[in-house]
Amino acid sequence: MKKNEKTYNHHIVNYLQQINHTLHNHKSQAYLVGGSVRNLLLQEPCIDWDIATDGDVVNSARQIAHTLGGFFVHMHDKANRIVIKDDQQEWIFDLSPLQGESIEADLHKRDFTINALAAPLTNVLDHLNRGTELAPIDPLNGMNDLAIKQLRMVQDRVFQDDPLRMLRAVRFMRRYHLTLEKHTEQALTRDAPLLPQVAPERIHEELYTILQPQGATDVLRFLDKHNLLTTLIPELLPARGMPQPSLHHWDILDHSLETVAALEQLAQILQPERGDEDRPHLLPPTLQPREEQLLTL
Ligand code: CTP
Repeated sequence: MKKNEKTYNHHIVNYLQQINHTLHNHKSQAYLVGGSVRNLLLQEPCIDWDIATDGDVVNSARQIAHTLGGFFVHMHDKANRIVIKDDQQEWIFDLSPLQGESIEADLHKRDFTINALAAPLTNVLDHLNRGTELAPIDPLNGMNDLAIKQLRMVQDRVFQDDPLRMLRAVRFMRRYHLTLEKHTEQALTRDAPLLPQVAPERIHEELYTILQPQGATDVLRFLDKHNLLTTLIPELLPARGMPQPSLHHWDILDHSLETVAALEQLAQILQPERGDEDRPHLLPPTLQPREEQLLTL
């Protein structure tokens, strides 16, 4: 059995089939786009399926929700959400109107090349049902970037068009172990001062995601290196270069970052399910927690 057959079960195939059927009846185009195609290629689980279409998108989404027994939410001009809860989980389908004259034009308005991929829904279904090759529409060479694990912006104004994409960049780098392409890195550093233009609740959500444990210190250092940390938290500005009493050798900013690093290491040590060999022994043996203590934590 191919891995995609295991990753994507018959529920999702049925839902996509129904969506394709309704859009076909409405004589609308139907493409799976963005992160959903990326996840299909990476054989990663996908909960949130993005579909670009044309015609009366609101009406199509409402009808699909009704047919599938799901909820319909008109979020804004660009997204109509269908939420389906079945015995296994909750699925989300976001139907959005094609941006621009064609699917290629739509893809050029997206953030990163690995997210600027599309596939006609019929091809997706053939791929899931019969294992045929997906062969996505890939005008920006995103598949190559996926293969070489590189995050590259679609065009130079990507962060100016939506500064939240700077934090999305960090999320994708972390999640897929990507390196940032040189020009993208320059644009990110250049556009960092624009981040506060974004609604705080959007920043909050991305920030809490990228600051998950085991990697949070690296993220904080990345944010600092690219002007994003003190843009987000200007209270940290005076901490840079602020000396401490001679007992300490870091300035206050570095000390704060090292404190997070120490906390991450401590959390790893105290994690009961990890094997001993994975635990960094930064505590002297006398202070290392005994197994029975670990189990009660
Ligand atoms: N997108 C974008 N700019 C944003 C948000 C989204 O260009 N600020 C586009 C990307 O093509 C993205 C798609 O819309 O792939 C769907 O967005 P979203 O669901 O937020 O992200 P995903 O890439 O699907 O990531 P995830 O797997 O975390 O949902």
